[in-house]
Amino acid sequence: MYSNILTEIDAGVGIITLNRPERHNAFDDALIGELSTAIDQMAAHPAVRVLVISSTGKSFCAGADLNWMKRAAAYTTEENLRDSRALAEMLRKLAQCPKPTIARVQGPAYGGGVGLVACCDVAIATFDVQFSLTEVKLGIIPAVISPHVIAAMGERYARRYMLTAERFSAAEAYRIGLLHEMVADDVALDDAVGEVVDALMNNGPGAMAECKALVSAVASRPLSPEVLEDTAQRITRLRASEEGREGMTAFLEKRRPNWIVGV
Ligand code: COA
Repeated sequence: MYSNILTEIDAGVGIITLNRPERHNAFDDALIGELSTAIDQMAAHPAVRVLVISSTGKSFCAGADLNWMKRAAAYTTEENLRDSRALAEMLRKLAQCPKPTIARVQGPAYGGGVGLVACCDVAIATFDVQFSLTEVKLGIIPAVISPHVIAAMGERYARRYMLTAERFSAAEAYRIGLLHEMVADDVALDDAVGEVVDALMNNGPGAMAECKALVSAVASRPLSPEVLEDTAQRITRLRASEEGREGMTAFLEKRRPNWIVGV
């Protein structure tokens, strides 16, 4: 039913694979629409506990499809805005997906491709992957990806790499926080993604969704009385929840909680 992506659900893991290798997985309106729908479906699917974003071919994602961007320049302002909003919304859905997300980065990521990596909760790449925020070279700006990129690498490095459009290595991406892990090759990449999936499968699905909401709610906010109260409210709600009670009881009874598959 999709023509630009592949989707699969296997043992609790939803996988969305960008599949436009002849265009280095650059995204146009069709790919953005499909990604948006697939993220919604994975977010709502009861069998999915973790979402992996991966790609086929040489590149992870060459960012926005420049033919599409060029076409958009001839649109009316309203049409142009609608297109840009669709991209912003797709990235928001990924960033705020209630299930944990992992970027499996097997090849270069440019422009919006860096944005996709930044939107995921965990990002793992092979050593040879290069990154670049190329937009200014093209006379445009990394606008809709910026909240995610700045959250991932911080304002200081965002300034440098957004302004210079330099290519940077996986080692640099790791150093500045865009990547969590670097591995030797595709086999090691699957192993590393598998290890993170295994860790996530042990955790309360509701608790992980609440954790994501917690991080967005408290990140970059001062330690104000409102924030203290908000955190107190959240833990109060969670420890009284069915999942919280089950998790704590299971620990004290030295058994596995009921959300672990195969209990
Ligand atoms: N949009 C549209 N087409 C793209 C694309 C993009 N973002 N990135 C690559 N392509 C196309 C190329 O135009 C080329 O098409 P052709 O076969 O019809 O000539 C094809 O993909 C292969 O690209 P090519 O440059 O020949 O391959 P490469 O292996 O030498 O380099 C990249 C691959 C991704 C490094 C290079 O294409 C590139 O730098 N792309 C632009 C990435 C970018 O700046 N993205 C940010 C956009 S905001």
